[in-house]
Amino acid sequence: MQHSLRLRSDHLPPETSSRFHLLPQTKHAKNTNCRLLINNPFKRTTKLPDFPPFLTSPATSPPSPVKLRPTHPKLNPLQKLAASMLDKIESSLVVPMEQNKPLPKPTDPTVQLSGNFAPVNECPVQNGLEVVGQIPPCLRGVYIRNGANPLFPPLAGHHLFDGDGMIHAVSIGSDNSVSYSCRYTKTNRLVQEAELGRPVFPKPIGELHGHSGLARLALFAARAEIGLVDTTRGMGVANAGVVYFNGRLLAMSEDDLPYHVKINDHGDLETIGRFRFDEQIDCPVIAHPKVDPTTGDLHTLSYNVLRKPHLRYLKFDTCGKKTRDVDITLEQPTMIHDFAITENFVVIPNQQLVFELSEMIRGGSPVIYDREKMSKFGVLSKQDPTGSDISWIDVPDCFCFHLWNAWEEKTEDGDPVIVVIGSCMNPPDTIFSESGEPTRIELTKIRLNLRTKESNRKVIVSGINLEAGQVNRNFLGRKTRFVYLAIADPWPRCSGIAKVDLENGAVSEFKYGPGRFGGEPYFVPEKEGEDEGYVIGFVRDEERDESEFVVVDASEMKLVATVQLPERVPYGFHGTFVSENQLMEQII
Ligand SMILES: [Fe+2]
Repeated sequence: MQHSLRLRSDHLPPETSSRFHLLPQTKHAKNTNCRLLINNPFKRTTKLPDFPPFLTSPATSPPSPVKLRPTHPKLNPLQKLAASMLDKIESSLVVPMEQNKPLPKPTDPTVQLSGNFAPVNECPVQNGLEVVGQIPPCLRGVYIRNGANPLFPPLAGHHLFDGDGMIHAVSIGSDNSVSYSCRYTKTNRLVQEAELGRPVFPKPIGELHGHSGLARLALFAARAEIGLVDTTRGMGVANAGVVYFNGRLLAMSEDDLPYHVKINDHGDLETIGRFRFDEQIDCPVIAHPKVDPTTGDLHTLSYNVLRKPHLRYLKFDTCGKKTRDVDITLEQPTMIHDFAITENFVVIPNQQLVFELSEMIRGGSPVIYDREKMSKFGVLSKQDPTGSDISWIDVPDCFCFHLWNAWEEKTEDGDPVIVVIGSCMNPPDTIFSESGEPTRIELTKIRLNLRTKESNRKVIVSGINLEAGQVNRNFLGRKTRFVYLAIADPWPRCSGIAKVDLENGAVSEFKYGPGRFGGEPYFVPEKEGEDEGYVIGFVRDEERDESEFVVVDASEMKLVATVQLPERVPYGFHGTFVSENQLMEQII
């Protein structure tokens, strides 16, 4: 029995569009220096449907006038004729198909982009922000947070995670000096749509569903064929994760290569372009790479829906040189959003979200929640050059989008065991479907016995939805006692931060207060102790229409500083912190 599931773009498969085999593949994309100034989304530069009224609701900052100037690519007469015909096909065939289909909440833009999920303008650097409290010296640097921020109003279905990537940056200097900015990551997709003055790239979650999705995909392929859009430079939105590695800030969304974004001296952000690790890879990478705190190596995965092998493990040393590129055999293309590392192993969840492209022909989503599939975890040695010795261990009834940490232990009998800490989500499709069942996201410890190939699973915290967070990254891959997670109640908003003691399940909460919500907490270490540091993040006061940057002492879970931000910061996805010293080594 299979169950149709809609896919969130934060958790999208690689090559989201090209996986349908209708689009040309990237061969040798070179970095593009995109300097297009996009001041605000949602200018109706072409004939677009009325934008949902919530975007002008007083509860959110109304978009300012757009300074977008579409340049419209020059076409020869034949191309113009073909483009005109395709526009007519869109308005007379594709749009009616989409409009005739009722939109469930997961793809209804009036739901997905309501309130503080609505997009905002780009914001150039705003200096001299007011600080209440004292920001500790260890936070000198830039806090970066990625998120989805659609440039154009949706034409039809839209999931929050379909939006274009936008990075929010809080720069902290000495003497409590703080500035803020936010910029689109100028993906090739976004740049082309801005030039055309309208959306043309398919939205993988909101639009590529059933027959109308096939029609939308065919329309896009035809536009690519006549040269109206260029699909060879990537189609990703770069909206989910960020990592600072080897002197570069990289923004990712697992549907493309990463994008290199430069942090300039004033705290502003500039997209440099797609980053192929110095021409060493030409494949998407997931949005949750891991930097080993001991070796400095970067570990990541790439998965491919269309071609075998469906999964690759990649490792880069501290100089950025690729040192592992291992094919991993999967029985079927599977969505793998996150993974974990230990000192010696890579831990890969192979769970129940799989791809069945034929489902689109039957009217459904190409992403399937396969209730019959046994969830399993693969344990691969970092030294295994071929992947042939990977151990797959069944973990029944387990679905984790994110894994917070993993480490190695031994049983009393001396058996090697991998301990994995993750958030198990029930029902697994809770983000994507309207099952009506209450959402449960339980912090869970999973033990994988490498000798017996058996597993067991134990809930650490129940009764509180805990998602989006992390351990002290200096201890990544090693045994950790604490994890910091967003309290995802009332789902999908986050009302506070939970510090969980993994040894006894004790929870220390920092609640934002009535009408105030945040997102992923990010831990920045100050001293050597595991919880000696600060948890930082954005908070939105929905009643007062104010956004803040907050600093919480991680050992005591008490507020030490807040910064009033000059613009609304929408709820988003994952972040990172780039220290003052790291910035000095930035490759520009
Ligand atoms: Fe994620």
